[in-house]
Amino acid sequence: MNINIAEIKLTKEEINAAIGVLESGGLRQGPHCAAFEKEFAEYVGTSYCLTNANGSAALHMAYEAILEPGDEVLVPSFTFIATASMLEFVGAKPIICDVDPDTFLLDLDSAAQKITAKTKAISFVHLFGNSGDIDQVLAFAAKHDLKVIWDSAQAHGTEYKGKDIGAYDGLVCWSFYPSKNMFVGEGGMVSTKDKDLYQHMMNFRQHGATGKYLHTQLGLNYRMTDVEAAIGREQLKRLPTMIATRRANAAVLRAGLEGVPGLKVQAQTENSSHSYHQFCITLDPKVAKLNRDQFAEALSEKGISSGIHYPRGLHQQPIFMEKYGTQSLPVTEWLSENIIALPVHHGMTVDEAAYVVTAIKEILL
Ligand SMILES: Cc1ncc(COP(=O)(O)O)c(C=O)c1O
Repeated sequence: MNINIAEIKLTKEEINAAIGVLESGGLRQGPHCAAFEKEFAEYVGTSYCLTNANGSAALHMAYEAILEPGDEVLVPSFTFIATASMLEFVGAKPIICDVDPDTFLLDLDSAAQKITAKTKAISFVHLFGNSGDIDQVLAFAAKHDLKVIWDSAQAHGTEYKGKDIGAYDGLVCWSFYPSKNMFVGEGGMVSTKDKDLYQHMMNFRQHGATGKYLHTQLGLNYRMTDVEAAIGREQLKRLPTMIATRRANAAVLRAGLEGVPGLKVQAQTENSSHSYHQFCITLDPKVAKLNRDQFAEALSEKGISSGIHYPRGLHQQPIFMEKYGTQSLPVTEWLSENIIALPVHHGMTVDEAAYVVTAIKEILL
C-alpha cells in the first residue's frame, strides 16, 4: 500500500470551471472572484471577504490595515514563517511566544508575560486545523486592549462552539495553497465584519486605487484571478465532505493509537471541531522504541508518507535570531524535534487509516 501525506487532485467540475474561465479570456480578478467572496462569506458566516494572491498576502493585508510601525504583535513560535514575517513588512515586531504542549497552540500565559506598552495585537494560529479557545483569546485581547488576527491558513472547515472560526470577531486570514484543506493553486482570503477595514484592504489590494488611476493610499497588487476563484467556488461545495473524511480518518487514527507508549496525538481544544489539516503526533524519545527520524523511515518502508511541521521554531529561524537575538522556548523546541505528521487527508479511506494504525503498532510495540 502507498499512502501519500496529501492529495491535491481537482475534480472534473473544478477543472471544467477553470477551463470555462480560460476559454472566456477572463484571466484576471473578475466576477468569479466577487462570487467566491460572497459564497465564502456566507459559508463561514461573516460579512465581508476579499480574495487575494495567497495566504501570506492575506496576512500582509490584514496587518497593514490595523498596525502601525513599531507595534508589537504576539505570535506563536510554532507556525509557518508568514505569521511573523508579514509583520516585518509593515514595520511591526513579532513577539515570538511559546505554545501549549498539548494543543500546540499559542500559550496565552507565555504571551501575557511578553506584553509591553507597545503590544497592539495578537496573531493567533489555528494550527493544523485545531481551533484555539476563541472566547479565551478574545477575552485576553479585550483585557490587554489588543487587536486580533486569526491565521486560519490551515483551518478551513473548523468550528468553535458550533460556528465556523471565520464567523468570530477579528481579521481572519486563509490560504488556498495546494495541500491545504481547500486548494485552488496560489490564493488567499481575508474575512471580516468591519466594513471600513474591508474597504481599506480592498484598496490596498489594488495599489490603493479608489478610482481609475487615482491612488489615495499605498498598496500592492495582491489580486487573485478568476481561474483560481472559479476552482474555489466549485470546491467550496465539497469542503464539508472533504472535512468529514479527514475527521473520520482522524477518529480511526486517534482510537487506534491510544496507549502506544511514548506516542501522543495533538490534543483537540475543547469546543473545537478540528478539521485535521494535519494529524500530528509526538514521540517521546525517552519512552518510544524509535526516535522520530527512525520512525519516519520505518513508516516509509511500509509505504506511508509522513511530514515534519515544523523542524524549528520561529525563534530558531536565522532571520529572527539575527534581528532579535536568541531566546529559549522549550515547548516549541521539544515539539520541533519530536513531532511528525501522519496521512489523514480527504483522499484517504478509513481502511487506509486503519492500515496506518496497524503499521505504527508493528513499528512501535
Ligand atoms: C499558518 C500559515 N500561515 C500562513 C501561510 C501562508 O500561506 P501561503 O502559502 O498561501 O502564502 C501558511 C501556508 O503554508 C500557513 O501554514
